[in-house]
Amino acid sequence: MSDVIISGLDIGSNKISTLVAIKQQDSNDLKIIGFNSTPSFGVKKGLIVDIKQVTDAVEDSIEKAERMAGHKINNVFVSVGGPHISSLNSHGIVAISNSQGEIDDEDVNRVIEAARAISLSTTKQIIQVNPRDFIVDGQSGIKNPIGMTGVRLEVDTHIITASSINLKNIERVLNDLGLENSGFVFCGLASSESVLTDTEKELGVVLVDIGGGKTDIAIFVDGSLSYSSSIPIGARHITNDIAVGLRISLDSAEKIKLYLSKNLNLKKKSSQIDFSSLNLNETIEDISLSTLIDGIIFARIEEIYKMIFEEIEKSGFSQNIPAGLVITGGGALNIGMIEVGKKVIGLPIRIGIPDKVSGLVDEINDPQYATSVGLILYGFKNIINKENPDFKNFSNILKDFKLTNTISKIKNFFKQFIP
Ligand SMILES: Nc1ncnc2c1ncn2[C@@H]1O[C@H](COP(=O)(O)OP(=O)(O)OP(=O)(O)O)[C@@H](O)[C@H]1O
Ligand SMILES: [Mg+2]
Repeated sequence: MSDVIISGLDIGSNKISTLVAIKQQDSNDLKIIGFNSTPSFGVKKGLIVDIKQVTDAVEDSIEKAERMAGHKINNVFVSVGGPHISSLNSHGIVAISNSQGEIDDEDVNRVIEAARAISLSTTKQIIQVNPRDFIVDGQSGIKNPIGMTGVRLEVDTHIITASSINLKNIERVLNDLGLENSGFVFCGLASSESVLTDTEKELGVVLVDIGGGKTDIAIFVDGSLSYSSSIPIGARHITNDIAVGLRISLDSAEKIKLYLSKNLNLKKKSSQIDFSSLNLNETIEDISLSTLIDGIIFARIEEIYKMIFEEIEKSGFSQNIPAGLVITGGGALNIGMIEVGKKVIGLPIRIGIPDKVSGLVDEINDPQYATSVGLILYGFKNIINKENPDFKNFSNILKDFKLTNTISKIKNFFKQFIP
């Protein structure tokens, strides 16, 4: 296989980031060669609310990443997240076509298509169909059924859907910039590629990406993605609370939040705080560290975790996640994230850093780039699979994300039943 170049575009509520990576023929390393992060405008809770503003920011980010990489970016894997994301687990059954009863690619494609035929509102679109488990003649627990013999093939899949309008808006931004969409990837799934270990996925784990405006959740059970969702609250809400509580601007509140988070060893909670080094425009009323941290910041973090807990309960997998929570996204670094989380959720919690790539890594070894790095890792898996048919990973099959293709695939699925 020749060198492969791949790019990822994360359109976040706080920042837009672009990564370009190369996998050289003679190396197993995935090397980052281009990177840019630029403030995001026109995105709220994962939804594009102003196409022009987003297009301008994406153009800026892409151009800067291209310049650093010395490569033109033509295709990008792009992130999708926010409360418009929902998921369901669907089952498919087909008869095996080969008279010898040996299962081939085509049978696997057909059974996944069968699972994919769900009734969907016109406002929703499938972005991902991930096989969790194959069943051959009633025997379950099969990860790759190709070459096995049987008469009936079944599959349990995890299907992720997103708002059609938001997907169209993203397509529009990409089209306007002459970029081709290599695939939509749910932010929670992308981040899980960059921060989770295989052991955690096998044991059962919850990936929580706490961004600026939303928190994406992906639950893995028995090694497979089994629940995806997103809640409309993120780390920016902590900034808002500080601004309201101290009657200061959002800019000053953000500076205070970052200062406290970077000085996690501030233990003397009863003492007054000295923010003089931050050069804020406002004078801050006397407030104790304990009122600010416990009364304002921790109160909001507790609320975020209560919502995460509700999602875990809703998933039905609360008894299947002994590896606990891996939190990532910029918000994971906030002061109190681990300690408050452990209290509310009662499970182990660790911070996930995207450190599975090499190259220009200093800056991107930060939870806020978990999704961007994940897009690259996810993309490589796809491309390598396409180029090397000996290595098949069915979680990547049938991900033709173009809206029109999806419709034609559904039509083809129905055609197979027409005599
Ligand atoms: N070191 C840090 N300590 C505390 N908070 C941080 C730190 N770094 C970033 N943040 C916070 O993380 C948030 C941004 O996170 P991130 O970059 O993951 O968001 P995003 O991906 O742009 O948004 P979203 O995923 O919600 O669309 C901001 O609220 C920022 O204040
Ligand atoms: Mg994000």
